[in-house]
Amino acid sequence: MNIEKIRADFPILSTTVYGKPLVYFDNAATTQKPRCVVDEIEKIYYTTNANVHRGVHHLSQLATDRAEDARVVVQQFINAKYSREIIFTKGTTESINLVTHSFCRQFCNQGDEIIISAMEHHANIVSWQLQEDIRGIKLKVIPINEKGELKIDEFKKLFSSKTKLVSIMHISNVLGTINPIEEIIEIAHSHDIPVLIDAAQSVQHMEIDVQKLDCDFLVFSAHKLYGPNGVGVLYGKEKWLNQMPPYQGGGEMIGQVSFKKTTFNELPFKFEAGTPSYPDIIATATAINYIKNIGLDSIKAYEDELLQYCTDELIKIEGIRIFGTSDKKCSVISFLIGDIHHYDMGMLLDKMGIAVRTGHHCAQPLMEELGIEGTIRVSIAFYNTKEEIDKLIEGVKKVVAMFG
Ligand code: ALA
Repeated sequence: MNIEKIRADFPILSTTVYGKPLVYFDNAATTQKPRCVVDEIEKIYYTTNANVHRGVHHLSQLATDRAEDARVVVQQFINAKYSREIIFTKGTTESINLVTHSFCRQFCNQGDEIIISAMEHHANIVSWQLQEDIRGIKLKVIPINEKGELKIDEFKKLFSSKTKLVSIMHISNVLGTINPIEEIIEIAHSHDIPVLIDAAQSVQHMEIDVQKLDCDFLVFSAHKLYGPNGVGVLYGKEKWLNQMPPYQGGGEMIGQVSFKKTTFNELPFKFEAGTPSYPDIIATATAINYIKNIGLDSIKAYEDELLQYCTDELIKIEGIRIFGTSDKKCSVISFLIGDIHHYDMGMLLDKMGIAVRTGHHCAQPLMEELGIEGTIRVSIAFYNTKEEIDKLIEGVKKVVAMFG
C-alpha cells in the first residue's frame, strides 16, 4: 500500500486543527471521503440531476440507470445473489429499524423473543425495544466475558420456542471484538432462526460474502465506508423481504393506489419510499470501487499492523485499562488511564490536533456492564500511519503528565 499516495486522495488529511496537522482517529464514527467520491457527487449534480424512477426524459433515465448500476456494485461487493436483495436506506440505523418494524409486524406476537448481545450499539437495542412496546416482544441478551467476547455457551441456552430472530453486531464499535458470526449463524440456523448481522464496523475492514455466511439480513452505512452520509444498505434474503410488509409509504414503493385497496411494488422498491438520495447512492458505488481497488485484504493487513503497534505502545503507559482484549480484534482501541476523565483526555488531545471519540459510543448498556461511564476510543483507518500513532502516544503521555 502506498500510504502517501492514498493520503493525497483525502484532502482533509492535509488540513490543520489549532495550527497542528490533523491526526484523525475517529474512523469508527465516520470515515473521511476520497476526492473521487466528492467529485462524483458534484459531477452528478452538474450533469445528471433528475428524480429517479419518475420520468421518461433523458436525465431521469440516466439518473435511474446510474442508481441501479450502484445497486449492482453493492450486490457484488457483499456477493448477494440478486440486486433486488439490496435495499437503500438512510443508514445502518434505518436499515435495522426497517427490519425490526417489518419483521416483527409479519412474524412476531406477544411474548416472542429476539436475541441480541450485551455489546450492541443503541440502534440494535432501542429499535427492538420500540417493538417491545408495540408488539410485546422480549429481548434476550448474550452476555460477554472479561475480554469483551460473546459467551457462546450462554448464547446456545437462550433459544426457546418463542425465539424469532438473532440480531448481532459483527465487530464491536467499542471493544473492537470480531464476533464469531459464522458460528452464531450456524447455531441459530440449527434452530431455524434467521440472523441479522450489523456490519457497520466490519464491511470497511474485511471481505463480506453474504451467501457464504448465509446470514438472513446484513446492514451497513456508506459514511463509514469512505462514502457519503445519508446512505445505508439493507441486504435481506429475498424469501424474507418478500414476506415482510413495507416500512414506509409513498414514492416508488407503490403498485397501484386507490382508496379501496393499495398494492405494493416488487423488491427492492417495496422498501424504498420517497425520493432516495441517489447522487449519494451513486457515490457509494464510487467509494466501494475505490476501496476494492486498494484491496480489502491489504487494508486489513495494514490496519492490523497499526492496531498492534498502537496497542503495544499504549499498554506501556502506567494505569491504562484497555476495554476489549480479544485475540480477534479489529481497528478499535477503547481505554481509560487512572482517574483521568475521558472528556478531559479527548479535549486535550483535540488541542493537539488529534481527533478521538470519547463517551459511551452509543453503547450505554455495555458501559454499565463494564462499570464505567465512557472511554477514550482510537479507531484506525488505512490512511493512518505509524507516525500518527506516535503523535497520539506522545499526546496521551502529555495529558497523563498534566494530571500528574
Ligand atoms: N456508531 C458510531 C460510533 O461508534 C457513531 O462512533
